[in-house]
Amino acid sequence: MPKSDIAPCLFVVFGVTGDLVRRKLLPALYRLSHESKLGEQLKILGVSRSAMDDQGFRTMARTALETRNVDSNQRIGNWCEQHLHYCWLPQWAPDQFQILATRIREVESRCDLPGNRIFYLALPPQVFPPAIGGLGDAGLNRSRGWTRLVVEKPFGRDLASAQQLNTLVHRYFAETETYRIDHYLGKETVQNILIFRFANPIFETVWNRDRVESVQISVAEEIGIEQRAGYYEHAGALRDMVQNHLTQLVTLMAMEIPSSFHPEAIRNEKVKVLDSIAPISPSDAVYGQYTEGTIKGQKVPGYLQEPGVASGSKVETFVALKLGIANWRWQGVPFYVRTGKCLPYRTTKIVVTFRCAPVSIFKPFDSCNLHCNVLIITIQPDEGFDLHFEVKTPGQPIQFQTQSLRFRYSEVFSPLPDAYQTLLLDVVRGDPTLFVRSDWVESSWRLYDSLVQEPPMLYPYAAGTWGPHPQDGHQAQWFPI
Ligand code: BG6
Repeated sequence: MPKSDIAPCLFVVFGVTGDLVRRKLLPALYRLSHESKLGEQLKILGVSRSAMDDQGFRTMARTALETRNVDSNQRIGNWCEQHLHYCWLPQWAPDQFQILATRIREVESRCDLPGNRIFYLALPPQVFPPAIGGLGDAGLNRSRGWTRLVVEKPFGRDLASAQQLNTLVHRYFAETETYRIDHYLGKETVQNILIFRFANPIFETVWNRDRVESVQISVAEEIGIEQRAGYYEHAGALRDMVQNHLTQLVTLMAMEIPSSFHPEAIRNEKVKVLDSIAPISPSDAVYGQYTEGTIKGQKVPGYLQEPGVASGSKVETFVALKLGIANWRWQGVPFYVRTGKCLPYRTTKIVVTFRCAPVSIFKPFDSCNLHCNVLIITIQPDEGFDLHFEVKTPGQPIQFQTQSLRFRYSEVFSPLPDAYQTLLLDVVRGDPTLFVRSDWVESSWRLYDSLVQEPPMLYPYAAGTWGPHPQDGHQAQWFPI
């Protein structure tokens, strides 16, 4: 959509004192209001259970923005004064939402806004229902302009709870008004998967079971759970990373060519992939939990020693799975997905290994082991891709070496925009392409529900290693990252 379609609006952010708002949303909103044409006409109403007034919120926001050096302190201060407002909502009770409704009308009238509203739930998942219900019962799902609801992940804890949450959302908001966030979809390198595949036809002819041997998707994190035990103890790596971020990567890599770049055409194809994935066999799933170890020379505690973690907790901090997509394109090609906390370093990579030559004519020569061609898409950091191929080393006897064709974003483009900034702009523009549709969420939970109901065996791994190794006794295929 062209930028002129951007309309003035009020951004109502629930949970405004939380970490996500300070780290991600406020910096993204600040940049958005400077870089989009919205400027003065994007106003923010922070909502939380903390007793504060406008000035209290502005001071909190100013500190958050100054700490992240988004601009000069003077300009940050001015922006906070002009754009930020606050509403204290001590309880999830109907009369409180009426107070919120009054406050919204007041800010809209003072700032001359046309009634376009975005409700962003940056809240713990257990309070999504009272927040959505409260908005709907107070009539805040309708206004004289448009209304949009933005819900952070995780959307549900399993299939049943995701279905219930979708039902509640749809009681008040149309699917076209609902924006379920998965910040991986806002990453430039993730968006580029579709461009890579569908704007470069040379890859399409090899993007199938005839030519691809396996696809590996790894999201390795160096960090542990930081201060988030309260959340993580109820989540674990499957809910925190696999059901959403990694599965999005699987669907983007495996989907068929959509009929157009229309949001629904793309989202239809993504859901079809999920519906073709065969049930996961327990022997194709490995769970791990980090124990004390060393990362880059620093000693780190094990998961069970992290503050707030229950003694004997069985929550997984590592998941490795083998998925099989039962369709004409991918039948028989394993998709390995893997993620873990406290691994040796941070990297998100997709590795497509192509089949080797069926017969090697170089067999008679010593040291001529052919390697398969490999495509490595690096989502982060050092964003880019490499295509590995074999070359003859000069001279005799004949020998091979693996070399690569290489592209790095940092060598061509200025810093990549932050995923949240991209996503927030899309919410304002009303473009749902990079958001998660209700049927995608449910199909994804359907796939993992058996693991949620009966988690696989949990293997310990030392922090600073690549997760449980087959030597530890599990049967799953294991690759170095
Ligand atoms: C979040 C998870 O969704 O993604 C975190 O809740 C995780 O646990 C984070 O650390 C990873 O995101 P990124 O963009 O740093 O790869």
